[in-house]
Amino acid sequence: MNVIHSTPLTDSVRARGLTKSFGGNKVLAGIDLTVPTGSLLALLGPNGSGKTTTVRILTTLLAPDGGTATVGGHDVTREGVAVRRMIGLTAQQATVDDLLTGRENLELFAGLYHLKGRRARRRAEELLERFDLAGAANRLVGTYSGGMRRRLDLAASMVSAPRILFLDEPTTGLDPRSRAELWSVIRELLASGTTILLTTQYLEEADQLADRVVVISGGRVVADDSPAALKRQVGTERLVLRLSATADAPRAAAALGTYAGVEERELTLALQGPDHLRRALDALHRAGVGVEHVELRTPTLDDVFFELTAAAA
Ligand SMILES: Nc1ncnc2c1ncn2[C@@H]1O[C@H](COP(=O)(O)OP(=O)(O)O)[C@@H](O)[C@H]1O
Ligand SMILES: [Mg+2]
Repeated sequence: MNVIHSTPLTDSVRARGLTKSFGGNKVLAGIDLTVPTGSLLALLGPNGSGKTTTVRILTTLLAPDGGTATVGGHDVTREGVAVRRMIGLTAQQATVDDLLTGRENLELFAGLYHLKGRRARRRAEELLERFDLAGAANRLVGTYSGGMRRRLDLAASMVSAPRILFLDEPTTGLDPRSRAELWSVIRELLASGTTILLTTQYLEEADQLADRVVVISGGRVVADDSPAALKRQVGTERLVLRLSATADAPRAAAALGTYAGVEERELTLALQGPDHLRRALDALHRAGVGVEHVELRTPTLDDVFFELTAAAA
């Protein structure tokens, strides 16, 4: 790593009350988020929840209808040029050219940042090395695997050595191994002082990388917490119970407490701690509720949203 930033300890990204509608469709209904300098914030949400819209506003590609945002201390609507000078963006859609080699792509990007000749070549070389693409530098990008392509995208967004990096779903569609490789590259960028806002649909990714997680759903922030606190809130495992009789459901829910979701005869409970399973089954037994089937599942993003939106309601 050869990028050393000396940035005062402030918030690199601050958004307050961002709103955006497309036609009559209110996509963002007041988004607040803060990314302290040198940290990684994961913006977690399902497809269509407004992640890309938020990133486009913060990277000056789209004007918000309302609210304010600063990036690197500059207002995104009034000081777009200053903001753009400080940031890098890896968009959800790849920006690299299939018909060029990895090296040619990076030299092209270097040119966009006014690096010429030898300086452009040196910068491309550094980035190829750093993102583990040196061996494939002279191959056409069209022959790259999904993971290599994402690493090249990331390298391209680091050409100007930005202090603040936006990564829009960098690992969506990648196999587990390429995903893990990209995570390690992202960790290195973070360790070298880059502030990162990353969007993801994967709870696990947020857990792996983020200092803080903002969960959005329906254009609103439904949680803003550390990964550990989020996991405590949604539990580490789901207990799914099928009751012997539908009529027992209300009694079962009452016996289990607040975090139970009920659908006909099926009850879902986020387990909090090792003896929760035993306590839950004891409670049902004492309440005289018959259980036909018991299953343990790791939480999916759907479970998290169910939990968070149920807790908010
Ligand atoms: N330029 C646009 N015009 C109309 N609708 C849009 C536009 N951009 C996004 N949307 C809509 O806004 C919603 C949020 O989209 P997006 O921010 O891309 O979500 P995400 O990145 O979380 O999947 C979606 O319903 C999408 O169809
Ligand atoms: Mg998106």
